[in-house]
Amino acid sequence: MHSTTTLLSLLSAAAAANGASLPRDSVCGAAAEIQCPIVFDGRVSADAQPTDFDSASTSIFNPDYVKGNNLKWSDILQFPDAGTTHFDNETHKPFEVTLSDESIFQSQQGFRRAGLQFNGDTNNGSPGSQGVKTIHFSVKIDPQRGLNLSHEYILVWHEAADYSANQFNFETGTIIGQEGLPKDTYKVLNRNNQQIWSTPILEDQWQNFAITLDFNQNTLQVYYSEADEPLESVTDVVSNNNAGEGQYQIGLLKKPTGTDDVVNSGYQESGIDEGLIYGSLFVEDSANGCVSL
Ligand SMILES: *[C@@H]1O[C@H](CO)[C@@H](O)[C@H](O)[C@H]1NC(C)=O
Ligand SMILES: *[C@@H]1O[C@H](CO)[C@@H](O)[C@H](O)[C@H]1NC(C)=O
Repeated sequence: MHSTTTLLSLLSAAAAANGASLPRDSVCGAAAEIQCPIVFDGRVSADAQPTDFDSASTSIFNPDYVKGNNLKWSDILQFPDAGTTHFDNETHKPFEVTLSDESIFQSQQGFRRAGLQFNGDTNNGSPGSQGVKTIHFSVKIDPQRGLNLSHEYILVWHEAADYSANQFNFETGTIIGQEGLPKDTYKVLNRNNQQIWSTPILEDQWQNFAITLDFNQNTLQVYYSEADEPLESVTDVVSNNNAGEGQYQIGLLKKPTGTDDVVNSGYQESGIDEGLIYGSLFVEDSANGCVSL
């Protein structure tokens, strides 16, 4: 796959001579290692078939939620050749969550949405809503299925059990009511929908994110890197109201324009074929400050 054997031998020899260990990110294609106990693993197996995601016996996600009423996950998920990302290795593959005109969940005519939930992430009593947890995800745009950044898209979030709020939102596009923020960035918003960090969307690079949620201290912290670089913290530990339990959701929720009632009304253009590629998805236990970088 990579013609780096000679370089690697040289680096290994140099590292051995120094008594230093070979830096992981100098090894082309090597996955970063997860350091902490995995609570939910959303990394898709390289041999997974689309229809695996339609059945509870074969899917690592909830096969029934949150998607267009007449769609199956095998209609929604694509598996583009997007390379290996940060915590994935050759036993995993990235997946793309897509939106079409059919992406209408229940009677929510305002939204177009397709959101994955981890198996075992129950709305109440989930281990993902207790203690200190870090959700990891990497994203890459698909030029064939571009997003319309005149709209607001939520891409990863944690929704309270009573559906009254999201403890955090990872978003892109034009945030309704905050049109002054640049649209072509990824943004982390706190529970009050205030942006706490953002970074430009890259066209052809994996971008890696982690968000640590402390459900005891009511804080969050954001980590970021590009390509196969180690994650670095990009915010302080900031206070955030993480109460209310609920569930993670990974996928696209596209809001309409031109309405105050985003759930039920507003404008969505027809004929859409949009998507975002995800990989390196998991939740780990960050008790005692453990965060995989
Ligand atoms: C790839 O990741 C899996 C965990 O999902 C791990 O069991 C396996 O050892 C890894 N393979 C390599 C070659 O690192
Ligand atoms: C993008 O969204 C805006 C607002 O809904 C709409 O006016 C425009 O036609 C859309 N652009 C494309 C290319 O679909």
